[in-house]
Amino acid sequence: MKIGICNDHAGVEYKFKLIKMLQKRGIEVVNYGTNTKDSCDYPDFAHRLAQAVEGGEVDLGIALCGTGNGMAITLNKHQGIRAGLAWNYEVGQLVAAHNNANVLVLPARFVSYLEASLIVRAWLDTPFEGGRHQRRIDKMPCR
Ligand code: RB5
Repeated sequence: MKIGICNDHAGVEYKFKLIKMLQKRGIEVVNYGTNTKDSCDYPDFAHRLAQAVEGGEVDLGIALCGTGNGMAITLNKHQGIRAGLAWNYEVGQLVAAHNNANVLVLPARFVSYLEASLIVRAWLDTPFEGGRHQRRIDKMPCR
């Protein structure tokens, strides 16, 4: 399992902690984010991560910015990406079970690190339910 992670300046601290947590679980992590708190533009990193997921360079992605919205909106411009924003454990489970999100987006300024790490675990440990949820996912692309 290989996970790509990206962030802007608002997500840099949680990014480094999450990388350690994921590596402890035996997951290989590729860092596509900024490594400083200097102000930067989240799309620069979101597009890199999206391309890595779409191209199969990594299996899944995690993205962090202040609210999570800038990352989610940018990531979801890519046809191969289903980026889901999650702000608590239960939403972390549902974004896997119902939306089969291949990128998890976290609002770093609005969740504690503990909550963020629990959300990541919930998303990773919850299987996609398929069935009616697959039917809905099939209807997502613009026709
Ligand atoms: C950066 O200040 C902030 O705008 C960004 O992290 C994010 O919240 C955007 O959606």
